[in-house]
Amino acid sequence: MALRNIRKQGEEILTKRAKEIHEITPRIRDLAADMLETMYDAEGVGLAGPQVGILKRIVVIDISEERNEPIVMINPVITASEGSQTGWEGCLSVPGKSGQVTRPEKVTATYTDLEGDTYEMEAEGFLARAVCHELDHLDGHLYVEKVEGRLYDNSELQKESEEDEDAREK
Ligand code: NI
Repeated sequence: MALRNIRKQGEEILTKRAKEIHEITPRIRDLAADMLETMYDAEGVGLAGPQVGILKRIVVIDISEERNEPIVMINPVITASEGSQTGWEGCLSVPGKSGQVTRPEKVTATYTDLEGDTYEMEAEGFLARAVCHELDHLDGHLYVEKVEGRLYDNSELQKESEEDEDAREK
């Protein structure tokens, strides 16, 4: 396994549509392992193929606190969505920034796993947000295109949350 280089906003590959994976080869398994390692190393909750320079429809996600619930989705498709939620989002390809994005509250997604089995996932809340964000990458879209209001530097948000705490203490 190896860490892969994370591509940043402005690189053309992040704007392209990724291609379906037709066969789960050892190379795809290695790619999935590397993507998980790269995501954990970067302290992210998700990573998509194009973000490591591979224009294939594969994403990895782990929203758990303990970082021990990896999900690998190959050729994922959202088949249903419901409700809406607005909340903060960031991206390893847009380091140090966050913005508010509205996403469905619940999504149903089908995908193939590394064994070639087909799954249907019911995701809600933050997991639904992560699935939507990562699938957008496969179609060449970054969350910054959907940000409501402006993009914030994380240092600004840190400061605001400290000020909020000060306010609560008073
Ligand atoms: Ni992202």
